[in-house]
Amino acid sequence: MWTKKHNYDLSGQNTFGMKVSCACYVEYDSASDIRDIIASEELPRPFFHIGGGSNLLFTRDYEGTVLHSAIRFIRIISDGDMPLVEVGAGVVFDDFCAWAASEGLWGPENLSLIPGEVGAGAVQNIGAYGVEAGDVIKEVRCISLEDGSERTFHNGRTSADVEDECRYGYRDSIFKSPEMKGRQAVTSVVFALSREKRPQLRYGHIKTLFPETGPDSPVQVREAIIGVRREKLPDPAEKGSAGSFFKNPVISEEHFRRIEADVRTREGDERQVPHYVVEGGIKVPAAWLIESCGFKGMCRGNVAVYHKQPLVIVNETGKASPDEVLSLEHDIIAGVEERFGITLSPEVEHL
Ligand code: EPU
Repeated sequence: MWTKKHNYDLSGQNTFGMKVSCACYVEYDSASDIRDIIASEELPRPFFHIGGGSNLLFTRDYEGTVLHSAIRFIRIISDGDMPLVEVGAGVVFDDFCAWAASEGLWGPENLSLIPGEVGAGAVQNIGAYGVEAGDVIKEVRCISLEDGSERTFHNGRTSADVEDECRYGYRDSIFKSPEMKGRQAVTSVVFALSREKRPQLRYGHIKTLFPETGPDSPVQVREAIIGVRREKLPDPAEKGSAGSFFKNPVISEEHFRRIEADVRTREGDERQVPHYVVEGGIKVPAAWLIESCGFKGMCRGNVAVYHKQPLVIVNETGKASPDEVLSLEHDIIAGVEERFGITLSPEVEHL
């Protein structure tokens, strides 16, 4: 079944809380609905598919149709030590994490409390605390928004014997590529989980949250991760945001050395520049770059740079306009560029 609403207010459909609307809003709960929707000539084009609206900045009213999936189910499709679990695209990602942990299944526990839904999580390759969705996804089932055909995208990261069709990278996938973007609606995602103990504790200080012997259950990890997130990140129910606003940039080793030298001379202290060696160069936390430029905690009109995590721009008063966010974004990019010669790219999709 699907429902449509004209001139729909999207404030409740984006965690930033931008007061924008769309010409039409359609919610559906089965894969076959998608075929009816794309055949319907009365729905204004273009279509834009959202999930939980937690990684989006609507910069103006949308003149087409916004689609949203209410396909919600979780089922074990093959059991054993490594169960395969199929999850509907409209399931809240954290509800899936809570379910998996309560079943004693390892895999998505580090992704606990990330806002958003399962379909969008597979598109965005959401990640936190050393784990990405692409580490636990086996396949992504989709329907083409162009011709209604079904297609399953296999993930080479979790199955060595298949072609890597999902092409997962840092907050990236085939679904975000220019040739595929907006063309497929995810209907469900199949996750490869584990009954065998498999904690992922490499990120930051996560390991220190547990005794020497490590956590006993995925519930324990989930609870620890929730604690860390609540400590650092704004609760979208209380303060609007879209999580990390920028991606962590990767720069050349030579560029990194220049920054290190610059910090040493300008600060006159022994401050280390945090960094991680990754494929293609050195990743420097955008949070550190933004903080070093003095933006942390900055409040301007109705928007602010979150005081505990400067990678997050918040709708401080609940009344922020898209222009206020865009103006702060512009100034952060310009400030970091001028000081460090690094051009930050937004992680949040602008529409
Ligand atoms: N840092 C600062 N100042 C701060 C906060 C952090 O300098 O106020 C520096 C520190 O050096 C710290 C480093 O940034 O060690 C990393 O901080 P954090 O662990 O908070 O992670 P992040 O790189 O800033 C990324 C993700 C988050 C995810 C965390 C934890 C991106 C764009 N963001 O942030 O994801 O929760 O790691 O894994 O990769 C999101 O995507 O919306 C999101 C919140």
